[in-house]
Amino acid sequence: MQVSSIKTQRIKSIIRAARFLFLSSLNPYFRSKPYLESFPPGSFVIDIGCGSGWALEEHLDRGGRGAGTEVDERCLVTARAKGLNVVRAPAESLPFETGSADGVILSGVLPFTVEDQAFAEIARVLRPGGRLEAYYIGAGFALRDLLVNHDVRKRYFGLRSLVNSVMMGVAGRKLPGKYGARCM
Ligand SMILES: C[S@@+](CC[C@H](N)C(=O)[O-])C[C@H]1O[C@@H](n2cnc3c(N)ncnc32)[C@H](O)[C@@H]1O
Repeated sequence: MQVSSIKTQRIKSIIRAARFLFLSSLNPYFRSKPYLESFPPGSFVIDIGCGSGWALEEHLDRGGRGAGTEVDERCLVTARAKGLNVVRAPAESLPFETGSADGVILSGVLPFTVEDQAFAEIARVLRPGGRLEAYYIGAGFALRDLLVNHDVRKRYFGLRSLVNSVMMGVAGRKLPGKYGARCM
């Protein structure tokens, strides 16, 4: 191998490492997990946009009860294959009775929703004193989608999330519509 080629390889790996460190340091989503211990055993918890259902599964493993909701068919299949009770429903229209839930998990889902409607539904299904555990996707998550992914939908999600973050900060509004489903 030529010296110039070795140098190029080295520079490329340094750039890759720097990019990885930069993106992961900006990515609180992967550092924080829903604080599921705050839901006592026996409590009924709804995991909205549950994805593969891992959070719901953890809650059930601790003696909890609950259900998940999803809009993405692949997620529904994955979660149901684990024996989880998951219904097809958007966060903006939950098929649960008013005051029926002790808790709600909303992990990395908010950017995909019409937020006002989602929060109104969460407030409706939670019993008085019920608890919402909400986790947000960090800027690093969106940046990674934009820069590292080959999937056009994910790139679009990343760009849209970043634009929305700036717009929210500057003008208190976000782009119309929503991104839609994105199973993890
Ligand atoms: C980033 S993933 C997070 C999945 C899971 N909660 C987790 O923590 O791994 C976002 C999830 O929200 C779901 N989703 C998207 N729009 C939704 C909506 N309007 N209502 C409910 N879930 C939605 C997607 O299908 C996807 O599974």
